[in-house]
This record gives sequence, C-alpha cells and structure tokens, in this order.
Amino acid sequence: MKKCYKIQLLATLSFILLLPNTKGWGEDGHAIVCRIAQVTNDFPSSSRLSDSAADAVKNLLPKYAQNDLGSVCSWADRVRFYLHWSSALHFADTPDKLCNYHFDQLSENSGDCKDQDGEKGRCVVGAIKNYTDQLLGYGKDTQYNLTQALLFLSHFMGDVHQPLHVGFTSDKGGNLINIHWYRRKQNLHHVWDVNIIETAEERFYDSDINGFTKAIQENITKTWSDQVRGWETCNSKETTCPDIYASEGIEAACKWAYKDAPEGSVLEDDYFLSRLPEVSLRLAQGGVRLAATLNRIFG
Ligand SMILES: *[C@@H]1O[C@H](CO)[C@@H](O)[C@H](O)[C@H]1NC(C)=O
Ligand SMILES: *[C@@H]1O[C@H](CO)[C@@H](O)[C@H](O)[C@H]1NC(C)=O
Ligand SMILES: *[C@@H]1O[C@H](CO)[C@@H](O)[C@H](O)[C@H]1NC(C)=O
Ligand SMILES: [Zn+2]
Repeated sequence: MKKCYKIQLLATLSFILLLPNTKGWGEDGHAIVCRIAQVTNDFPSSSRLSDSAADAVKNLLPKYAQNDLGSVCSWADRVRFYLHWSSALHFADTPDKLCNYHFDQLSENSGDCKDQDGEKGRCVVGAIKNYTDQLLGYGKDTQYNLTQALLFLSHFMGDVHQPLHVGFTSDKGGNLINIHWYRRKQNLHHVWDVNIIETAEERFYDSDINGFTKAIQENITKTWSDQVRGWETCNSKETTCPDIYASEGIEAACKWAYKDAPEGSVLEDDYFLSRLPEVSLRLAQGGVRLAATLNRIFG
C-alpha cells in the first residue's frame, strides 16, 4: 500500500515537472533577453550595465543564481501557478484587428491595460511600471521584496517584446489559433514563444543558445548600432516606457505574427525564415531596454 502511494506520488511529481512551459517567451527567449542586458563574462568589455546597476543586480539576485540573471529570468512563469494574481501581468490584450495599443488615460475605460475583470493597470505594461517603481526604493526603507521585483521586471520586459503578448483579445494572443509548425500541431502563440527560437538554434547554431545570443549581441554592435540609442531612450524623465514597447508589439503582431497564419494553416520555411529577423530584433530590443531601465533605476 505504502509503496503504491509512493509510486503514484512520483508519477504525479514527474508529470508536474515535465509540463511544458507555455507562457511568455520560452526559457530560451527570456534567458537571451536577460543575458543581453547583463552581458556575461564572455563580453566583459561590452557590459551594458553601469557599475552601480551591475552591483545592485548582483546583490538582489538569489545566491543560487550565481550572478546570472539569465538563469532566473523564467522564475515569474514558474510562480504564476501559485501566485495567481501575477498571471494577468504577463500580457496585454487589445481590441481585435485594431493593431493599436491604447495608452492608459486618466479617463475611465480608455486604456488597454487591464485584466479580465477590467481592473486597470493589471497587464504587462502596468507591471513593468510597478516593479520599476519598487526598485527605485533600492537602498532605502521599502516594504517590497526587491529580489522579486527584479525577477518580475526582467521577465516582463521580455514578455512585452514578444509580439503576441500584446495580441488580440478574442484569440488570447494567438493561443486559440491552431496551426501546424511544420508537421506538428501547435498554437500560434507557442510558435512565437518557443518554436521560432528553437528552430533557429537547431538549424543555425548547433542547438546552442549561446551561439544565438552571441549572434544577436554582435548585431547590436553592428547591424543595429544606429538604432540602439533610440531603443534605449524614453520621453522626458520616464525611467521606463513600456507603452511604447507594447505599441510596437501589437504592430509587429499584425505585420508578422498574425499575417498569413490563420486557423488551420501550415507554417514552414517561408514563415520561419521571414519571421526570424523580427524575433531576433525583439529579443535584442528587450535586452537593450532592460539594461537601460536598470541603469536609470540604479544610477
Ligand atoms: C505590483 O506589485 C505588487 C507586489 O508584488 C503586487 O501585489 C501587485 O499586484 C503588482 N501590481 C501590478 C499591476 O503589477
Ligand atoms: C524575497 O523573494 C525571494 C524569491 O521569492 C525569496 O527567496 C526571499 O526569501 C524573499 N525575501 C524576503 C526577505 O522575504
Ligand atoms: C545579423 O545581421 C545580419 C546582417 O543584417 C543578418 O544577415 C543576420 O541574420 C542577423 N542575425 C541575427 C541573429 O540577428
Ligand atoms: Zn511571462
């Protein structure tokens, strides 16, 4: 009897551990964004973080992360299953087909940042502002757990750059659009979270996330070098500007993600090869903006 119970428990546990990660860029997308921001030991000369931001990040990271922000960039996805309130903070839904993100206005019901119950500010844009504000209390008396604030901010900065995290309401950001990714059944949201990145790593980088990360980092200093300043900059004195990131997101969702990918379609090389540059660009922007935001927070 006892043994039987143990086996059952083991089976249940391994099932839970094997459940695929279906929300947000997958592990790799988030790790790439965070590594671009923090820049690891491979590129000591090109660190994007200021010394004080690098120190603060090191102080705030849990010990087990060994100062590698990328290793805990998916923490927010793992806790959403028991911190239920955090679930709505990973995305923003916009009205179908409008291809526009409406900023939060002071008047009621005018912004797109709200949860399913209509509570204002509860979306990925509000969350980025929230955790940025909390981190501004670093070094002062604060009621917040700033380790959690850092892990949430780093994760949500990735999510807001995944085009379908600012998608249409009725298809839940592509989650309800069933397609085939080559031969396999998949949904469109998952293609953008995981499959495009995984296929790129397999085909071009020996299945190595570091190879893909380095290629993006190289393009930040070469192909995109003229644009990086623009990505980093926010209007006036804002510490971070997620309204802009979300607006770009839904535009990219319409232009690249939803386009030519209706229910039932088969997505293959044509789609993969034409969308990969957009995925690379969004990962680059996410990393650069996370670093810029952390630099403005920690001085
Ligand atoms: C802001 O952060 C607090 C603490 O984690 C959390 O309880 C609250 O739900 C967050 N709100 C938003 C909009 O992110
Ligand atoms: C802050 O949050 C982290 C991650 O959840 C946790 O490990 C740590 O114990 C918390 N710190 C405090 C002081 O509660
Ligand atoms: C880097 O830029 C080159 C030249 O524009 C492009 O061919 C390549 O696909 C880009 N790679 C990545 C990962 O962005
Ligand atoms: Zn997420």
